[in-house]
Amino acid sequence: MKKGTEDVLLNNTPILSTEDLTYIYQKGTNSEVTAIQDVSVDILQGELVGIIGHTGSGKSTLIEHFNALKKGTSGRVLLDGSDIWADKSKIRSVRFRVGVCFQYPEYQLFEETVAKDIAFGPKNMGLSEEEVNRRVTDALTYVGLSQSYAEKSPFDLSGGEKRRVAIAGIMAMEPQVLVLDEPCAGLDPKGRATVLQMIASYRAKTGCTVLLVSHSMEDVAAIADRILVMNRAHVAFFDTVDAVFSHAEELQEMGLDIPRITQLMLSLREKGIDVPANLYTVQQAYDALRPRLKGGSRHAQ
Ligand SMILES: Nc1ncnc2c1ncn2[C@@H]1O[C@H](COP(=O)(O)OP(=O)(O)OP(=O)(O)O)[C@@H](O)[C@H]1O
Ligand SMILES: [Mg+2]
Repeated sequence: MKKGTEDVLLNNTPILSTEDLTYIYQKGTNSEVTAIQDVSVDILQGELVGIIGHTGSGKSTLIEHFNALKKGTSGRVLLDGSDIWADKSKIRSVRFRVGVCFQYPEYQLFEETVAKDIAFGPKNMGLSEEEVNRRVTDALTYVGLSQSYAEKSPFDLSGGEKRRVAIAGIMAMEPQVLVLDEPCAGLDPKGRATVLQMIASYRAKTGCTVLLVSHSMEDVAAIADRILVMNRAHVAFFDTVDAVFSHAEELQEMGLDIPRITQLMLSLREKGIDVPANLYTVQQAYDALRPRLKGGSRHAQ
């Protein structure tokens, strides 16, 4: 198990839960689609959960329930133990407590300066100017941009920087749960690595619960404590990274791109070589294979 994951899982207080959550698009018409079905999960306080699944498996639909953007056709969403729909007057506060950053959030940047854009959410919350300014400063730090960006126009930034500013805008609301839908989509490898690193360090600094939707098993495995695998509207697996990777073959059958190193391990196993199937980093594979390689080279001498 990854370092730190055990601590998070030991403190097993759910912050966000779903109970038999089902959502059907265009219900009652010929074209109805069940996007999620009977989803029951507990997200624990402070954990970083990766949500993966093939395209159309229901990831985005699921997370849109977490800040009450969608209301389940049936089932419930609980935040800190309370049904988020129990009192409609509290929906606004749910949206502040669960911050969702949708795909390509940079399309929603519109202010003249980066600082104003980041301040938009906190201002909406009715915070004092001083508090808003503090949050803008902190959020820039969280996303690894220097304070000199504050007065720049968001439109003069690179694609990766715009993405980081948009994410900073959600972070500045200081939600208890931060949900990011494909935050690395469309970025180059360097941009992807920066954004992933930034999310991991944000969680480490704030202790915030983070949900990260991604197509990439590799990205998720690198930073998540647990992985929620969606398959055709259902939860296929929800477990630690190691435990989920022990189903590498099934993940592949679900059309997921498992890391190349995991694929290599699976092919070695098919050839009858007894290596663990749940490896997902080059270092793990190296550690598993090294004793054999040493033996092999001695043999060859
Ligand atoms: N507005 C909509 N109307 C009808 N069906 C929809 C709508 N949005 C999504 N769906 C369907 O609901 C199912 C789940 O879609 P969803 O977007 O939640 O999946 P996803 O896992 O986020 O996919 P992706 O990886 O492509 O983002 C799919 O079958 C999709 O076609
Ligand atoms: Mg989606």
